Parts: sequence; C-alpha cells; structure tokens
Amino acid sequence: MQLKPALHSAIERLTARGVPSPRMNAELLLMFTLDCDRAYLYAHSERELTKDEQARYGSALDERARGVPAQYITGHQEFWGLDLIVTPAVLIPRPETEHVVESVPELARAREPGEESPPRVIRIVDVGTGSGCIALALAKELPKAEIHATDVSYAALEIARANAARLRLEDRIRFHHANLLEGIGSEFDFVVSNPPYVGESEADQVQLEVRKFEPREAVFAGPTGLEIIERLIPQARAALRPTGWMVMEISGTIAKRSKELLHDWDQISILSDLQSIPRVLRARKPRDP
Ligand SMILES: C[S@@+](CC[C@H](N)C(=O)[O-])C[C@H]1O[C@@H](n2cnc3c(N)ncnc32)[C@H](O)[C@@H]1O
Repeated sequence: MQLKPALHSAIERLTARGVPSPRMNAELLLMFTLDCDRAYLYAHSERELTKDEQARYGSALDERARGVPAQYITGHQEFWGLDLIVTPAVLIPRPETEHVVESVPELARAREPGEESPPRVIRIVDVGTGSGCIALALAKELPKAEIHATDVSYAALEIARANAARLRLEDRIRFHHANLLEGIGSEFDFVVSNPPYVGESEADQVQLEVRKFEPREAVFAGPTGLEIIERLIPQARAALRPTGWMVMEISGTIAKRSKELLHDWDQISILSDLQSIPRVLRARKPRDP
C-alpha cells in the first residue's frame, strides 16, 4: 500500500473509534513508524510501505484505537523544547506545566526595592518530578542553579534519570526517592511542584484515557484532591529559606482551597493558563516566619 492511502485509511479508522484529532494522530504514528518528519509524509505520498512498515503502523494504530495515548506508543513527548522519554510509569508532561517553569526565572529575577541580590547559587527542588520535565527545563534555563528532584515512584525516577542522561543534564540534577520533601533538607530558594491534585470524587470528569493509562498515583491525590498539597505546603515552608518561593501547579477546582492553605504566606498569586484556567499558585515564605 502507498503512504497516502495508508494515511487516509488510518484517519478513517481512528475517526470511527472516536479518537480525538484523528489526522494528527494518524500522521504522528506514521512518522513514528517511518522515523521521518511530517514534510517527508507529504513529499513521498506515493512511496510504497513495506510489509513490515504496514504491520508496525497497524499495531501502533491498534493501540491508539484502544485509547493508549500516542506518547506512550511513540515513547516521546516534547516539553520546554526538550525531547523527553515517557512510559506508562510517568505522567505525560502537559504544555500548561510550562507555566510553572516560566515562573521560576521570573521570580528569581524580580526583587523588591531594597531587597538584596539573590544568592549566587539558586537552590531549587522539584517535588514529584515524574519524567523530570520541570527539573530538566529548569536545569536548561538556569545553568547555575542547584537542582534537586524527588519522587515516591522508583519507576518514575528511573525515567527521569534516563531523560537527564539523554539530555546530558545528569550532573545538574540530584534525584531522590522521597515522600514529598522528607529528608531532602532545607535552605531552598524554590520549591516547585506539579503534584497529584485530582480528587477521586471527580474521577468521572477526568478523560478516560488519563484514568486508564496514566499512573493513578500521579493524577489522584485522595478523596478531595487536596490531600498531597495539604502535606506539601508545611513541608515546603520548612524547606524554604525566608523569602523563598513555592510555585505549584493547581486546577480551577482546588484553586480557592489551595490559596486558603497559604493564608500566612506572602505575595500569593494565581496565574491562569492559556485557556484562562487557574493553573499556577505562587507564594512566598515570610521573611520572619
Ligand atoms: C502530576 S505528576 C507530575 C509529574 C511531572 N512533574 C510533570 O509535571 O509531568 C505527580 C508526580 O508526583 C509523584 N508523587 C505522588 N505522590 C508523591 C509523594 N508522596 N512524594 C513524592 N512524589 C509523589 C508521582 O509519582 C508523580 O510522578
């Protein structure tokens, strides 16, 4: 079969199975099968697919048609311009999480009138690093920062370490197996996190693909969604230097309750994502705690 009809029949098949963005998915999986870019698909639309390519494309489409996210099929997701390996052991990094990354250099640069320069080496810890996406993006963005990353999942830490090695950033990040910030130390300038924040009570509002295929402990925090954040906030306060920042991803559902938990912090703000959903909660540890 030629490439163009193979693509068309794949689009029809994914459409019939209710897969969102069927063309994008069909193209992505064909690019993955042929190890090529999109331009190649259109420049060589009459190229014959070998039997082996047809079989591999067919099984990738089977997986996608049964709901497996394309990123778990291809094993890759881009985040902050970095090509990351992803497996079902880690949450697939989302574009909105880039707002957490953006906040750190912005807050590190901003100073109040009369405030001293920030310490020479900024110390950052990423809690619940998953694929390592936030820690790796910060390592790229802030070449002088000292960066730590924690996760309770050994399997996730393995992927995060592999990503660091592939990106030659392994010397920049210290990975720790830890329950949130337990045993990680103190005197950090930033605690950053995209914690699990979905409540089990709202599970039916979560996309089926997420519920079925992404790690449950990465998505769900407990019955209300606040359980991890409630533990993380006091730990972050203990781990931060006075005037240090906590920068945390949240959802619209928990924005108000998360903000209330930070009532005795300074400079609390919530940034919205590109869809105007409250997404990043930022708060500063008081100078005199
Ligand atoms: C929402 S995912 C975020 C992953 C990654 N930072 C990202 O933004 O794509 C939450 C991560 O927190 C980890 N996690 C859950 N409970 C934890 C705990 N008590 N201590 C440390 N990490 C935890 C999960 O294993 C998962 O990797």
